[in-house]
Amino acid sequence: TILVLDFGSQYSHLITRRLREFNVYAEMLPCTQKISELGWKPTGVILSGGPYSVYEEGAPHVDRAIFDLNVPILGICYGLQELAWIDGKHVGRGEKREYGPSTLNVIDKENPLFKDVDHSTVWMSHGDKLHGLPKDYVTVATSDNSPYCGIAHKTLPVYGIQFHPEVTHSTHGKTLLKNFAVNICRAKQNWTMENFVDTEIQRIRKLVGPTAEVIGAVSGGVDSTVASKLMKEAIGDRFHAILVDNGVLRLNEAENVKKTLVDGLGINLTVVDASDEFLDKLKGVTDPEKKRKIIGNTFIHVFEREAAKIKPKDGKEIEFLLQGTLYPDVIESISFKGPSQTIKTHHNVGGLLEDMKLKLIEPLRELFKDEVRHLGELLGIPHDLVWRHPFPGPGIAIRVLGEVTREQVEIARKADHIYITEIRKAGLYNKISQAFAALLPVKSVGVMGDQRTYEQVIALRAIETTDFMTADWYPFEHDFLKRVALRIVNEVDGVARVTYDITSKPPATVEWE
Ligand code: XMP
Repeated sequence: TILVLDFGSQYSHLITRRLREFNVYAEMLPCTQKISELGWKPTGVILSGGPYSVYEEGAPHVDRAIFDLNVPILGICYGLQELAWIDGKHVGRGEKREYGPSTLNVIDKENPLFKDVDHSTVWMSHGDKLHGLPKDYVTVATSDNSPYCGIAHKTLPVYGIQFHPEVTHSTHGKTLLKNFAVNICRAKQNWTMENFVDTEIQRIRKLVGPTAEVIGAVSGGVDSTVASKLMKEAIGDRFHAILVDNGVLRLNEAENVKKTLVDGLGINLTVVDASDEFLDKLKGVTDPEKKRKIIGNTFIHVFEREAAKIKPKDGKEIEFLLQGTLYPDVIESISFKGPSQTIKTHHNVGGLLEDMKLKLIEPLRELFKDEVRHLGELLGIPHDLVWRHPFPGPGIAIRVLGEVTREQVEIARKADHIYITEIRKAGLYNKISQAFAALLPVKSVGVMGDQRTYEQVIALRAIETTDFMTADWYPFEHDFLKRVALRIVNEVDGVARVTYDITSKPPATVEWE
């Protein structure tokens, strides 16, 4: 395992990501990690970039004990500056910030870190730079603007680079990281999903023990389904899945989830129809944040009540709660946020855990989203489910603008179903990151046959994005939009007009509420 110490760069998590792409397992921890408290010996250490200046008071510094591990060390950006700072403080502000591409010029062609990366484009993002070479180091690479773009210790396997090999803009960055991890650290390339399944099932069995039982909520989405299937593989029917039908799920969703999970995957599932309870509480509520709160609180309430009805065979209480937490959530909670900030807890089920005295079990906490999908395929979960678009917890309630009633949900649901069906038929589903129909709380005049109509408006949304922080609308062919609009107006009572949302995020958000 390679240890990545995070100094707070926005790219830090990509280092672990890249290493795993060539099957090397890496773990990221905050830069303040005490090596004596680590509990395992890394095969190599990477110091990430970070937003601080090493010479400023209060800047984070690494535990010097990393040098006693006698393993290779690679400092990236701030990490490089940290190495130089420790060995003579040759760091200061550059004349100008350097941000963007630069060309790498490798001087020491024999250096194993730079094998096959000479003349490639490297991505720079720094304000500080080295003003001199630290004691016992040599320059092994330069770039247009950085005379100390790559440095190496004369006798030890310690390296520093000014650029960010972890971002894809550094065209040969992955090769460099592989040179470091595989050739220099001799890390094993044995991180595969097949291995993950085996070790994770063993880990779950050990954690849960021979008799204890586990509950977990499923939503019909990929994360909770994959987590549930893994539990099923590990402990069979001692895992109880609960699907709460909150009345604002997609068309026929509860039924479909039941079919897939119970009939298809053999998961022990209880479907709870609590739609009246949710819709009752949503009566008269139009504020989006209030809708979210009501749905969140009602969910906890219903889930607790249903969980209490499940009685383990041994007469004891349920002991564990399954949560589909992914690595990005974990990273969010362990990333180094500055010397004064405390680390926040990542799970949003705090209430449930305390009330029910449950222990948390998170089998996906080491995985990125695409790894979860890969795992899902491996576990035999249907392809369509594995590649499903994300769906918000508050569901159609935030896609029915204004008051949420059963009738309004029904209209939005039917329109959405037609839209998604047509997207799938056109072979576009996997090209789009998320698509849905929203029902607007306005009426508009139309004409059907010889009749004047005065009915509501559906807004279609489809976006492309990698991270959902920014998004662009999807450029459908006109014929496609024409077909969908016609079907919706013809087949969904209560809708007289269809529009297509052509706003990006920002300034709009993905959802309408
Ligand atoms: P926005 O609308 O914030 O959406 O641009 C970004 C992504 O987050 C989803 N989203 C939610 N997911 N609960 C959720 O579980 C919510 O309250 C919520 N609001 C938005 C949205 O569907 C999109 O994928």
